[in-house]
Amino acid sequence: MATTPSPQPVTFQRQADVLVVTIDNPPVNALGVDVRRGLVAAIEAAEADGAAAAVLLVGAGRNFIAGADIREFGKPPQQPSLPEVCGRIENCSKPVVAAIHGAALGGGLEIALSAHYRLALPSAKLGLPEVQLGLMPGAGGTQRAPRLIGVKAALDLMLSGRHAGAKEALAIGLVDRLGEGADALAEGLAYAQALAVAKAPVRRTRDASQALADKDAQRAALEAARADTAKKSRGLFSPMKIIEATEAALSQPFDQGMALERKLFLQCVDSPQRAGLIHAFFAEREVLKAPETKAAKPRPIESCGIVGGGTMGAGIAVAMLDAGLPVTMIERDEPSLARGRAHVEKVYDGLIGKGRMTAEAKAAVMARFSGSTAYDALAKVDLVVEAVFEDMAVKKAVFAELDRVCKAGAVLATNTSYLDIDEIAAGTSRPGDVLGLHFFSPANIMKLLEIVVPAKVSADVVATGFELAKKLKKTPVRAGVCDGFIGNRILAVYRQAADHMMEDGASPYQIDKAVRDFGYPMGPFQVSDLAGGDIGWATRKRKAATRDPKARYVQIADRICERGWFGQKTGRGYYLYPEGARTGTPDPEVEAIIDAERRRAGITPRSFTDEEIMRRYMAAMINEGANVVHQRIALRPLDVDVTFLYGYGFPRHRGGPMKYADTVGLPKVLADIREFAKEDPLFWQPSPLLVALVERGADFSSLDQSE
Ligand code: COA
Ligand code: NAD
Repeated sequence: MATTPSPQPVTFQRQADVLVVTIDNPPVNALGVDVRRGLVAAIEAAEADGAAAAVLLVGAGRNFIAGADIREFGKPPQQPSLPEVCGRIENCSKPVVAAIHGAALGGGLEIALSAHYRLALPSAKLGLPEVQLGLMPGAGGTQRAPRLIGVKAALDLMLSGRHAGAKEALAIGLVDRLGEGADALAEGLAYAQALAVAKAPVRRTRDASQALADKDAQRAALEAARADTAKKSRGLFSPMKIIEATEAALSQPFDQGMALERKLFLQCVDSPQRAGLIHAFFAEREVLKAPETKAAKPRPIESCGIVGGGTMGAGIAVAMLDAGLPVTMIERDEPSLARGRAHVEKVYDGLIGKGRMTAEAKAAVMARFSGSTAYDALAKVDLVVEAVFEDMAVKKAVFAELDRVCKAGAVLATNTSYLDIDEIAAGTSRPGDVLGLHFFSPANIMKLLEIVVPAKVSADVVATGFELAKKLKKTPVRAGVCDGFIGNRILAVYRQAADHMMEDGASPYQIDKAVRDFGYPMGPFQVSDLAGGDIGWATRKRKAATRDPKARYVQIADRICERGWFGQKTGRGYYLYPEGARTGTPDPEVEAIIDAERRRAGITPRSFTDEEIMRRYMAAMINEGANVVHQRIALRPLDVDVTFLYGYGFPRHRGGPMKYADTVGLPKVLADIREFAKEDPLFWQPSPLLVALVERGADFSSLDQSE
């Protein structure tokens, strides 16, 4: 999509007695300063043009207006401001019509709310998604939306950030009329001309009163939303500000409400949450721009194969089936194949049980699924994902079979978590076709897909990985080959930091709570109990021979696993899960094991504050993140951020670990690491990249430009 702004992002031209104002600011008609100036000029022209009886606002391209220009937030404001532009539109003495197709979001909807009549085409998506960026509507949305559609519907849009379609918009009173087809100009012109002929009056939303007439009902809706938000918004700043501003729409004159909205909006703009969420917005788009996606065209993917029908293979099969692809699953014998198929069916049966799928729909999906114990069934597929046991010899044997049966040009992918993909590729006659596609569990739900790029893979195979991610609606992150790639490699390090703190005196329950209070949905010990302690135990045993004997090794997890306490699936792990409970309760026996281990290691326990816990936890994560960027395993810091936002539950309003590090200040993070290194210099070795950035006074975001 072209990104060069056209010389004049707003043009106007009279057609009969309607002044047609076109917003043309690719890619999405965001309301940058030139658009705002152009809109004011257009309204002035309409006032001055005696032959213009009405004004029509339309967007060129695929959208009406996608909203404020997000890149301008945090920069010095430029006049005219968006509220001023909206005011000029609303105050126009001639009827203004907004004809909406595609996105009318945020400021785009606020422009439409300032018009006097609104028409929506079937493609329209209307919403006030500012909350997702740590913001609130700041150009009258909190004042005009309730006046037009009532408090309940307005708060629903503003607090969820969701998009409403054309029909819903008509039903709730957000638009006046539905258009047909895709031609916003033709539909809008017909509406504007009809209004001009009928001498329809200007109708200012600021003066609308009907939707707020029943004050008691409106107040009740506001209080219900306030109570709900207090419970659910988990430390987010802007939702309560949205409610406060909406309350003003109910109780104060329009201009006072607007003044309060502005004040609260600016508080949101200044909040670090706004910076974190906007970083996340751009980062999740930047990760799509890997060098290979620019250099090469993806190979076609019309059909897929999966080897292994366990936890991951079945989840990946569901993700592919959900994307409409035919899937062939290979297992080692008939009983395993039956189990693999049953794992897939269980997901759909779960949906049927919840009333979210019909039996017929399931049958239609399963018609695209086939299974076999013979590799020849994969002869024609375009892409295979291997998801067998995490064992190099087993994987190599599988790839030898794939090499034998798959057609030339088929993409051969492994879902390995840790193994050396260069070695797997080298065992085939076609290393250019082999890459890593590292899904996360449950693979049909988790959004992250690490696209792991071995040395010999061709660019078009990597591009195919990104294309598959798009088909599966996953967020891809390009990663290099190393033990654990981006995510699991960093996880291994901060998990060790957590284990060190546990042995030094913090309880796993305190650590989990500190991590939750930081904004994670779960702490590391809860995650271990959920995933199954046996998985980490197996990895530790596999790596025991290569572990540096001088490195600190905490044995508490091994003591727990030796008892068969693997977490939720065994009823106890770090926590107790009586009678299949999904939330655990602290276990005094685990605390006793920890005490015994501390004694064995000769450690006198000390206390940690939650803040100390998070400083160490984050310093470990950031330092290894810096190593991963330094060694080019991740292209940029933002790739680490997206990995953690989408695969590890990192709180989005903090932007990701590297963005968080910038917020704290890299000198402070480095000083912490050097302080901790006094106790354990082997574990706490400052990353060379972190040191270099601090020396030159730079931050991680300075490295975030696209490659
Ligand atoms: N300001 C500045 N740039 C924006 C933007 C905005 N409001 N909305 C989108 N863009 C940019 C994207 O960064 C992307 O740039 P890139 O191509 O350089 O990566 C480009 O426009 C296309 O966006 P993308 O999201 O890839 O297109 P899409 O067709 O999938 O989706 C939208 C279009 C409008 C639905 C989606 O971009 C969106 O939701 N935008 C944000 C809307 C919003 O929150 N508005 C309120 C702002 S307060
Ligand atoms: P699993 O034990 O649940 O399933 C493995 C399946 O592979 C079994 O059904 C087994 O019968 C089958 N299998 C073994 N050898 C085979 C062969 N030669 N031919 C055909 N099928 C064979 O394991 P899993 O958890 O699904 O993990 C699979 C892979 O995915 C591993 O490499 C693992 O590291 C990786 N992974 C796992 C997770 C996770 O959270 N479980 C996450 C990401 C990646």
